[in-house]
Amino acid sequence: MHVVWDICVILQTYIICTSSGQPITSKLDAGWWAYKDVVQGSFVPVPSFWGLVNSAWNLCAIGKRQSPIDIETTHMIFDPYLTPLRLNTGGRKMGGTMYNTGKHVSLRPDKAHLVNISGGPLGYSYRLEEIRLHFGSEDSHGSEHLLNGQGFPGEVQLIHYNQDLYTNYTEAAKSPHGVAVVSIFIKLSENSNAFLNRMLNRDTITRINYKHDAFLLMGLNIADLYPDTTRYITYEGSITIPPCYETATWILINKPIYVTQMQMHSLRLLSQNEPYKIFLSMSDNTRPTQPLLQRCIRTNINFSKQGRDCPNNRALRPQYRVNPICDVTDGSTCSSLTEQEKSAMFSQLASEEERSPLLG
Ligand SMILES: *[C@@H]1O[C@H](CO)[C@@H](O)[C@H](O)[C@H]1NC(C)=O
Ligand SMILES: *[C@@H]1O[C@H](CO)[C@@H](O)[C@H](O)[C@H]1NC(C)=O
Ligand SMILES: *[C@@H]1O[C@H](CO)[C@@H](O)[C@H](O)[C@H]1NC(C)=O
Repeated sequence: MHVVWDICVILQTYIICTSSGQPITSKLDAGWWAYKDVVQGSFVPVPSFWGLVNSAWNLCAIGKRQSPIDIETTHMIFDPYLTPLRLNTGGRKMGGTMYNTGKHVSLRPDKAHLVNISGGPLGYSYRLEEIRLHFGSEDSHGSEHLLNGQGFPGEVQLIHYNQDLYTNYTEAAKSPHGVAVVSIFIKLSENSNAFLNRMLNRDTITRINYKHDAFLLMGLNIADLYPDTTRYITYEGSITIPPCYETATWILINKPIYVTQMQMHSLRLLSQNEPYKIFLSMSDNTRPTQPLLQRCIRTNINFSKQGRDCPNNRALRPQYRVNPICDVTDGSTCSSLTEQEKSAMFSQLASEEERSPLLG
């Protein structure tokens, strides 16, 4: 079975069409990028070069709403209009194919099982396209998003596209309101999340040791992947791989999920390469954090004190068509939390939630 990536199709078209700004290299193609330098071998662009090697990827370099970001809790604002996210599986289990793409562990639901999300910050219904795992070579890092400068051992990203406006992911990814990504941090524990346990048990994960390996999984319940909380943090950002389109609404769930140390170890043993090439661990497949700039980070976590709103937030609220603008470097236009308020929020959450939320 070989992997057919929608994104490759569109990129290749793009590259053929945009010959004017094309760099000299002949290696230019959709997959010609990497997260880290290879010690020996030819040049492959790492994140700081993504936007420079391919004109179709210039948002990676010059974009103003890039992802991932460092979530600084002092910059979050409480938005009481944020409703809980709705997950709609039709009450059915799902099948999907798990891939080693050489860059990520990826699970794609089969087309017969439609899973969608709506509500929360989303003005449309978004269909699940892909589940992607990012993880580190050490426990201290591995997530793409950071929380107050701190990384987590891993991050699961559930990538959805706007099925109300667009016919497929390829089209949606480059279009306004195209993508919604639910992000869940991964931590280590004795017991693992039921959904991840299906993907990461030894019998399964070892089927995708090498690039292009694929393995079919059945009877998955996507609801098992979600931790038990309605709290989240949301902001407007981008896709975290080239071409870095700024079409993604990010929803970071305020509670991690868990995998065992052994499962994390199995992930680190996956190779970026085909079996006949040198072993290169897939770990540390993360893009560095990007500047927040003029963006708001909103949350439905109710701090004890409700801060002032972003100036134009209210008018935009009904449809969320435009980013709220607030200057987070200047406390006068955007509310921020004092240390005291933060600790109040933490203790409130700690008492409510069974397993520790992120903020707490
Ligand atoms: C969302 O998914 C459910 C269950 O699969 C389905 O019944 C519903 O029609 C979907 N919503 C949209 C807008 O497609
Ligand atoms: C996605 O949808 C667009 C517009 O309907 C269509 O032109 C394109 O061929 C589709 N791409 C794939 C990969 O299905
Ligand atoms: C947020 O919390 C405060 C203090 O507990 C409470 O007075 C207020 O009603 C809450 N707001 C919402 C929208 O839940």
